[in-house]
Amino acid sequence: MDPLPPFHDDLEAALTEIWRLLEAGPVLRRNAFHMPALATVDAAGQPQVRTVVLRAADRASGALRFHCDRRSDKAVEIAATGVAALHGYDSDAKIQIRASGPARLHTDDALAEAAWAESRAMSRVCYGADPAPGAVLPTGGAYALPDAETALTTGRPNFCAVVVEVARLEFLFLDRRGHRRAAWMRADGWRGCWLAP
Ligand SMILES: Cc1cc2nc3c(=O)[nH]c(=O)nc-3n(C[C@H](O)[C@H](O)[C@H](O)COP(=O)(O)O)c2cc1C
Repeated sequence: MDPLPPFHDDLEAALTEIWRLLEAGPVLRRNAFHMPALATVDAAGQPQVRTVVLRAADRASGALRFHCDRRSDKAVEIAATGVAALHGYDSDAKIQIRASGPARLHTDDALAEAAWAESRAMSRVCYGADPAPGAVLPTGGAYALPDAETALTTGRPNFCAVVVEVARLEFLFLDRRGHRRAAWMRADGWRGCWLAP
């Protein structure tokens, strides 16, 4: 049987492992945190969840970033509530991560410009989709995407980068020798504690 990982009974090591996995998410396509689930609350108070691609994670600032269409329900929900949560489970590492906190849409600032500039042409065309995401269609294919050149002008106004400033982090590590669950709150650094799994 494999030895227990160093973070099994070490809160600081567990926090480091969480951020290592999150920071690897944007670059490692096979990492479970490349495509976390994003949870929001809609105008009726109902939970909503869907997959997004994690574009950036930064332990120093505690920020997670993904991109979406500002016309989408998720963007509207984040603008209205100012909060979001992300979740991922890595079945190889047997680690679940939950992250939540204030979330903000960046549409016209330097952060949004930089995020748009680093987006691939095939991603940019999605932001020029007509009609807007979530619109009811008469048939499944009754929508249009611009070509890459046109997307530069029609897609950009709909593009937004969303930054979640993680305020609460939680991990669950599954091991038959003893599961481990811990949570951290951010206030002048991270304050963590073990939780009953
Ligand atoms: C693998 C995968 C990756 C996705 N990545 C994103 C993403 O990065 N941003 C996004 O807005 N939607 C992404 N989507 C689509 C969303 O999951 C969702 O279906 C769509 O954006 C509509 O969500 P909403 O109506 O709740 O806003 C992705 C879906 C899948 C299956």
